[in-house]
Amino acid sequence: MQNCIIIIIFWLVLHTLLLFIGGQAEVPAIIVFGDSSVDPGNNNFIPTIARSNFKPYGRDFSGGRPTGRFSNGRIPTDFLSEAFHLKPSIPAYLDPAYNISDFATGVSFASAGSGYDNATSDVLSVIPLWKELEYYKEYQSKIRSHLGNAKADNIISEALYAISIGTNDFLENYYTIPGGRRSQFSIGQYQDFLVDIAGSFVRELHGLGARKISLGGLAPMGCLPLERATNIMFHNDCVQSYNDLAMEFNGKLKALTTKLSKQLLDEVELVFSNPYNIFMDIIRNPSSYGFEVASVGCCATGLFEMGYACNQNNPFTCQDANKYVFWDAFHPTEKTNRIVADYLMKNVLSKFLS
Ligand SMILES: *[C@@H]1O[C@H](CO)[C@@H](O)[C@H](O)[C@H]1NC(C)=O
Ligand SMILES: *[C@@H]1O[C@H](CO)[C@@H](O)[C@H](O)[C@H]1NC(C)=O
Repeated sequence: MQNCIIIIIFWLVLHTLLLFIGGQAEVPAIIVFGDSSVDPGNNNFIPTIARSNFKPYGRDFSGGRPTGRFSNGRIPTDFLSEAFHLKPSIPAYLDPAYNISDFATGVSFASAGSGYDNATSDVLSVIPLWKELEYYKEYQSKIRSHLGNAKADNIISEALYAISIGTNDFLENYYTIPGGRRSQFSIGQYQDFLVDIAGSFVRELHGLGARKISLGGLAPMGCLPLERATNIMFHNDCVQSYNDLAMEFNGKLKALTTKLSKQLLDEVELVFSNPYNIFMDIIRNPSSYGFEVASVGCCATGLFEMGYACNQNNPFTCQDANKYVFWDAFHPTEKTNRIVADYLMKNVLSKFLS
């Protein structure tokens, strides 16, 4: 009898201790904001030409389904979801095929073509970042009424918030729209303008209860096939000035995360997820990752096609996207997305795998 009680007490103590050591529960959901790098198809449900919900997009996705992801398969946040032992892909908030029970373990508010700057989302009439946050507020109230306050609060505070945006502010807006931001801001001033918006966004998320936040950096955007295609003077190599800009901007975002981490003290775990170096390594040494082509995309000629220009009727589309770093002229293949996500998981986000 006494032995039995001792065993029970021992077991209880051990159990409590393990719970204590284990800390909080693992991340229960991934909540995503951003652009095409992490949009699983929100743009299918708004009037814009920034779409990819037709073949050959998605030909390597489960069921060969074109979901609106700008890739042949999954995007980086899908791989993160899997790494956190959640579902294999994160649904789009605006997709009526999903409901709040699905979104309780992950949801994306991202919109292809969007940027930090409101003027960027205007270019292709997509969802501005502030509106993504409005949708998130609506999500919070839905999840509260669905699960009750206690469970909802747990999801809100323990979820990982992933933000991936910024490339379009430079390539689709600043350097493309004449008489726009370029006539108002020097490139340095424009970066600071964007970093301010990023800072406000993180603060607002924090104010809404987010505690685990990943702010994503820019890839070497001068190496996107579309940019290389126009770099004729330099034999279609990467556009160095755009890569330098990406690095400079990443430095500013990193400094922002350091500053905000101090200001918000240990209430929030804010990390900077920088894809630049791994991405650059893939582009410079494609064969060491099993790729054969890094300079052009798989779809069509691979030089400039994306969205509607990358369609099923194009006879030039490659057979095996796994040999290509890029799927279309602007977006990586699923294989590249997986390598980048694995790298970030291992080097940055593993701290959230408690
Ligand atoms: C969500 O959809 C599933 C089936 O698709 C259904 O079983 C579930 O009841 C729905 N949940 C809500 C909250 O509507
Ligand atoms: C973007 O637009 C929203 C809605 O009009 C506005 O609240 C916000 O201040 C704007 N952001 C900037 C940086 O101008």
